[in-house]
Amino acid sequence: MNGDPRYAEALRAGLVDVLRSQGALSSDRVAAAFRVVPRHVFVPDVPIEVAYADDVVLMKRDDEGVAISSVSQPAIVAVMLEQAGIEPGHRVLEIGSGGYNAALLSELVGADGEVTTIDIDPEVTERASATLRAAGYEAVRVVRTDGVEGWDAGAPYDRIVVTVTAGDIAPAWIDQLAPAGRIVVPLRIRGQTRSLALDLQSDGSLRSRSSVNCGFVSMQGAGAEHGRVVPVVDDDVVLRMDSDQTIGKPSLDGPAVVRWTRVLLDREEPFCQLDLWLASVFEQYCVMSASRAAVKKRLVRPALRWGGAAVVRGETIAYLASQAGPKRDLVELGVRAHGPAAVLLAEEVAEQIRAWDAVQRGRPDPVFLIHPAGTTDLPDGPHFRTRNCVVTPRWD
Ligand SMILES: C[S@@+](CC[C@H](N)C(=O)[O-])C[C@H]1O[C@@H](n2cnc3c(N)ncnc32)[C@H](O)[C@@H]1O
Repeated sequence: MNGDPRYAEALRAGLVDVLRSQGALSSDRVAAAFRVVPRHVFVPDVPIEVAYADDVVLMKRDDEGVAISSVSQPAIVAVMLEQAGIEPGHRVLEIGSGGYNAALLSELVGADGEVTTIDIDPEVTERASATLRAAGYEAVRVVRTDGVEGWDAGAPYDRIVVTVTAGDIAPAWIDQLAPAGRIVVPLRIRGQTRSLALDLQSDGSLRSRSSVNCGFVSMQGAGAEHGRVVPVVDDDVVLRMDSDQTIGKPSLDGPAVVRWTRVLLDREEPFCQLDLWLASVFEQYCVMSASRAAVKKRLVRPALRWGGAAVVRGETIAYLASQAGPKRDLVELGVRAHGPAAVLLAEEVAEQIRAWDAVQRGRPDPVFLIHPAGTTDLPDGPHFRTRNCVVTPRWD
């Protein structure tokens, strides 16, 4: 079946239906691009049915087994292309090459547009060049370089689409953007990654027009962002935070103070927006991960073992907890806290969970404003400081 073009066409049509039903695809132009680009050419080592499943195809791991390159999941590719709003004739820079997305971009910009895709890894650029050629997209320019530098020779770009998790907005991206241009980037802040569509404003700042939770491999090279890790109990309970945060080591000694909130969550409902709300209120927000052993020993009993919201104040820590709700599919959110100020901090965090539930839950994400570091007249609001910019979520 692999060689039958009608079979590939039928699989592509099926994928388009899936993406439409999920809401990942909404425009006819993006759907048309998905209908023609042969994804199986870009992932030649997997069966054709896998190539057209809505799944990421892993292409490379580093020496420690961490995924560093993939051909992205069609759903997030579709979402980001919809966010980008690419028009015929646009000049587009893609950061992070797999070949497939660059081919879709090429369909969207048409014969009058231009697509450049760059990747830090020569293995990836060689593969992308070869597969783009094999699929008939010779016009796409493939360059090996570190994405934080953008690619000045092709600027200005109407759109920059970053397909790797960034912890910052590189100044080169803003410099290389055309007036009224847009950057779509999976930006990681306080442990959460959102694909933001950021419109360039006349004062050089960026303003988000949409925000979608997502996950990507992490950026390598000069823009790699490792954050900080504070071990609380060896490797069993650790706190992760961004580089602009300093958080001391809390103690888990003594019994936990527990406060339940009566806020009920569907078991499938994501925590991301609540996490961002808590990160906006508490400067010393961080993400707590615990091993199975730590939970078994009841050192901690978090809502999410692999990474959930926590707030540290001096030696006190409060973290998100959950218990069974009144119905099978519901959980009640709560807070567990340890340390000298456990009662106060548990109550403050519980109050904020209730505030999020009352004010924000079910509403869209805040608008994100992004200003260069050093801007003196920043808008009000919490400020998350990355290497080169200040990110301000506006909840109003
Ligand atoms: C998820 S993959 C890209 C997927 C691709 N756009 C597609 O068509 O499916 C992310 C890529 O980003 C690349 N990458 C990581 N750090 C980078 C950097 N600093 N500059 C450019 N590329 C980078 C990786 O080598 C990897 O190939």
